[in-house]
Amino acid sequence: MTDPALDTEPVVDEALDAEALRDRALTTLTTARDRTTLLTSCVEDPDLTAQHSPLMSPLVWDLAHIGNQEEQWLLRAVAGQEAIRPEIDSLYDAFEHPRSQRPSLPLLAPAEARSYAADVRGRVMDVLERAAFHGTRLTEAGFAFGMVAQHEQQHDETMLITHQLRTGPQALTAPAPDPVPLFTGPAEVLVPGGPFTMGTSTEPWALDNERPAHRREVASFSIDTTPVTNGAYQAFIEDGGYDDERWWTAAGWAHIRRNSIHAPLYWSRDGRQWLRRRFGVTEVVPPQEPVLHVCWYEADAYARWAGRRLPTEAEWEKAARHDPAGDRSTRYPWGDADPAPEHANLGQRHLRPAPAGSYPQGESPLGVRQLIGDVWEWTASDFLPYPGFEAFPYKEYSEVFFGPDHKVLRGGSFAVDAVACRGTFRNWDYPIRRQIFSGFRTARSEAV
Ligand SMILES: [Fe+2]
Repeated sequence: MTDPALDTEPVVDEALDAEALRDRALTTLTTARDRTTLLTSCVEDPDLTAQHSPLMSPLVWDLAHIGNQEEQWLLRAVAGQEAIRPEIDSLYDAFEHPRSQRPSLPLLAPAEARSYAADVRGRVMDVLERAAFHGTRLTEAGFAFGMVAQHEQQHDETMLITHQLRTGPQALTAPAPDPVPLFTGPAEVLVPGGPFTMGTSTEPWALDNERPAHRREVASFSIDTTPVTNGAYQAFIEDGGYDDERWWTAAGWAHIRRNSIHAPLYWSRDGRQWLRRRFGVTEVVPPQEPVLHVCWYEADAYARWAGRRLPTEAEWEKAARHDPAGDRSTRYPWGDADPAPEHANLGQRHLRPAPAGSYPQGESPLGVRQLIGDVWEWTASDFLPYPGFEAFPYKEYSEVFFGPDHKVLRGGSFAVDAVACRGTFRNWDYPIRRQIFSGFRTARSEAV
């Protein structure tokens, strides 16, 4: 019997030959390195070696860690080469040293870290030139190159978080997203109940936790058409949301009391208006923009105050991928095409979310907008394996994080590159996290 999940999955890249795969690997690796170079050259060396927050590594650690992971996977695992500098492996092992301890390690200095990462990349270009994209699971369809490009882009997002935590003058600039008229479409979209295909078995560069594709039953629900905006979130604050225990889980209430949390991270009050600090600039909080830098507890409390709840992960993915017309799941809300600028706010093109209602060309078949890009969206769900999950290529990518400690975020933010963002892509974090580019939308169950 064939698996019904597989019939309703997009067929991806079947036609890609070795040259096309080589091009794709080259383009994504180069895009990632351009971003890394920008993020590590827009400040002086002392800002690269300083620890701007105990939550984050010094930027220079990220830079050499990117090179070290690339060396381990593409030069050693794929090409069978000897280690270039075996003595530094343990310095850049994320599991050996928590972020708070990394500044005290004998890290490579900025110039050394740059030349090490460039040396690795030069050798990788030679490997890529000769690579056959089959033979092992690691090389099939260029998976290892895709994994390494995604890893670098994920650190580029992490480094952008560090830039936001850094105090001092502005170092990064980008144009604002295009203004759009105030969104006046329906506030929510009904997603009819029934099964849909969740996860993927065909996306070549999907990571282990997105696999395999499987059918999932989801009851009827309605979901916000756009992420919750700053303006809506301000109404929660003005209504005393942070002072009313009714809206909070016990753990959430204890957390905000203990840490005196009264507004999203980086917000401050100036008389009657709210200001925020964003990459070194203080500005009035724009009411139309999706709210950013809230933790899971805040998202959950807002939803309860609004008489709603956070969507489950399966609900989010069904809203994002399910095309009722053909009972199939697409790669993205807009279909199977790779993300383009008209679809979503990705890739640090803008250093902020776009106003709610932007990107009509990126909406899902049912009319849900901005599911991809802008802000990571907290879901109600714990990070758990899908039925049939297999750790690949190493347990530390996902498996060690499964369990009730982490909540799933979906959709990617403005800081995520397209290579590390899909309708199936899963992110996870602790419910207290708010330095990440996190927002949310709400949902409610529909009577059957
Ligand atoms: Fe890493």
